[in-house]
Amino acid sequence: MTASLIDGKKIASEVKERLKAKISGLAADEIPGLAVILVGDDPASSVYVGQKEKTAREIGINSRVYRLPATTAQDDLLALIGNLNESPDVHGILVQLPLPGGLDRDAVITAIRPEKDVDGFHVVNVGKLWIGSDAVAPCTPKGIMALLDSTGVELKGKEAVVIGRSGIVGKPIAAMLLSRHCTVTICHSRTRNLPDVARRADIVVAAIGMPNFVTGDMIKPGAIVIDVGINRVDGRLVGDVEFESVSAAASWITPVPGGVGPMTIAMLMQNTFQLAGI
Ligand code: GUN
Repeated sequence: MTASLIDGKKIASEVKERLKAKISGLAADEIPGLAVILVGDDPASSVYVGQKEKTAREIGINSRVYRLPATTAQDDLLALIGNLNESPDVHGILVQLPLPGGLDRDAVITAIRPEKDVDGFHVVNVGKLWIGSDAVAPCTPKGIMALLDSTGVELKGKEAVVIGRSGIVGKPIAAMLLSRHCTVTICHSRTRNLPDVARRADIVVAAIGMPNFVTGDMIKPGAIVIDVGINRVDGRLVGDVEFESVSAAASWITPVPGGVGPMTIAMLMQNTFQLAGI
């Protein structure tokens, strides 16, 4: 089998166009507002935040980016979040991760009001996601679900194997697949016989951060493969999936770049719109 491509760039652009059209019809005091906080000068984080700022501007969301030095004190960061929590024109607050050493990630995320937690990382929203109650879903997993739905394949009853157990992707995508009635297994660095587990899957989500980790021999013929990896190898972007061998076995596959990446930003815009309550 040669896999069909799931075109994340195109699907993301349709989402953004729809949002842009809706926002253009709003009154000035209804425009969704997004505050993004970047602490330190991690180059990848800087690029991601720049993309978020640019996309927000393109679709008409009011965005403010706070670029703070890596030496920022925890109390100062918490004070900024406190101000944004109280600011009526800010509907979504995002703190770009990872934070520099010395800052307590959990305390920082918990300081965001759950109603403004546009990433869905606050414990209240994580809990809501797992009990299946209405919540702001984290952007990357939400984008993955949209990509899976774009294939038209029924998810109910499918075996899904998630490779990676991060709080940003692995755990929330497992919750979301579970709520769509998949049988979900989460694999990680200590999993025994990971290739055997992966070979059971009708759906593989690779989010482990290791270039070309998933190879064709780990894929059941006809599986859907979602590659969340963004690894830089010799100046080139490479996913967690070895594209050539895996696309020979899979039915659907996401490319890197142009798969999951654009969806994360589109879903951030959608979450901001959702939190603005329009
Ligand atoms: N770092 C990598 N991905 C993300 C994300 O989706 N949100 C935030 N806040 N930080 C990230």
